[in-house]
Amino acid sequence: MPGRLIGVDRDRIQVAARRVMARCDELARVTATPGEGIERIYLSPEHARVNRLVAEWMREIGMSTRQDAAGNQVGRIDRGDRDAPALMLGSHLDTVPDAGRFDGIVGVLMALEVVRLLRVPGEGGLEATVPLPFALEVIAFSDEEGTRFGKALLGSSAVAGSWRDEWWALTDAAGVTLREAFRDFGLDPGRVGEAARSPEELVGYLEAHIEQGPELDRRGESLAVVSSIAGARRFQIVVEGEARHAGGTPYESRRDALLGASEAALAVERICRAEHHIVGTVGQLEAYPGAVNIVPGEARLSLDLRGELDGSRDRVWSAISRDLDEIMGRRGLRWRAREVHAAPAVFCAPILQDVVREGVLSTLPAGADDPATIFSRAGHDGMAIAGIADVGMLFLRNPDGISHHPDEAVAAADVAVGIQALAEAVLHLGAEHATGR
Ligand code: GLV
Ligand code: MN
Ligand code: MN
Repeated sequence: MPGRLIGVDRDRIQVAARRVMARCDELARVTATPGEGIERIYLSPEHARVNRLVAEWMREIGMSTRQDAAGNQVGRIDRGDRDAPALMLGSHLDTVPDAGRFDGIVGVLMALEVVRLLRVPGEGGLEATVPLPFALEVIAFSDEEGTRFGKALLGSSAVAGSWRDEWWALTDAAGVTLREAFRDFGLDPGRVGEAARSPEELVGYLEAHIEQGPELDRRGESLAVVSSIAGARRFQIVVEGEARHAGGTPYESRRDALLGASEAALAVERICRAEHHIVGTVGQLEAYPGAVNIVPGEARLSLDLRGELDGSRDRVWSAISRDLDEIMGRRGLRWRAREVHAAPAVFCAPILQDVVREGVLSTLPAGADDPATIFSRAGHDGMAIAGIADVGMLFLRNPDGISHHPDEAVAAADVAVGIQALAEAVLHLGAEHATGR
């Protein structure tokens, strides 16, 4: 592949990075919980507000904009032929509860800066000198985290055409169904299929994201090529026992659902720790009826299970299930699990790994070693988009590896080299396409 392609001066990239950081701050103020942390869930008023802001920023760099039928915000720059396939860049704007300000968001804003660098004349735009053989789109996915309805990747699943009718009945914490939430937001559930894109429309999907882990920080490197995205399965588990008086019930008569659930959580840790590249998390645990003087008759826990390889992750789920049978049997409890999310592991396309590697190399001194190539332990929209397009990802160092937490961070200097790497990756892909690969 050719070497460094971009002719943009470093000052412009620094300005772009500073704009990304300032906009991350601006979007962080669009939250349902002002003063308490960031929370921006699917189909909420905050979702509508960030879409409007991002649409303005898209138009500012000459993109045509639309909000699709699943609430994803899309911007596009055509290349003459309005039906030409597009390279899609982007990430998501929704958050977990009490979130940081960069997960997803920084990837959307970096994509906008790449479009600005490549296409906006007078702003370092290279359109005249480096024409791309495809259209460019930026997409801000509406639901990656699954915070509101438990099912993650709703926005990107709609784009991938893998939306399932059974999801309409999913409810949020207030009992609002996904169908009702669509209508309240001004979307028509009957038209969600219109968000779907076909493989012919897309050249590929490239996403920049913070690593959400400590690997790059430990290595002292800014950027990495992503090789694959770990698959995830999520379950809601119900343990049934018997509610009884907390004073009058001797231990031998108790069927305490919370103790069964607690043992289950410890079993998840023990089993997953013994496996390479598998992590299991019980992030929610509730006891019912939830009174200080009642032995819990029911407990509900969530399980998030991830692994680099689907086969080993599924074997771990079987092992956990066997342990739960034993624990609950011993304690006189019953249990059942409902799978609320399943996404297989996805491998990044070799061509996109190559161009991202070229992009990262362009930010390093001549003769530098190849950049790190790591797999993503976190989930990303590319997992759904892989159903219709090649996907590739660029990771940015995430100090201390902390994410899904208000202290989540990324350095402006890493965002700057990230923008350069992403822009270079796009140009390298353009060059590959132009030579007919
Ligand atoms: C999304 O961040 C996930 O991996 O849960
Ligand atoms: Mn996340
Ligand atoms: Mn994310």
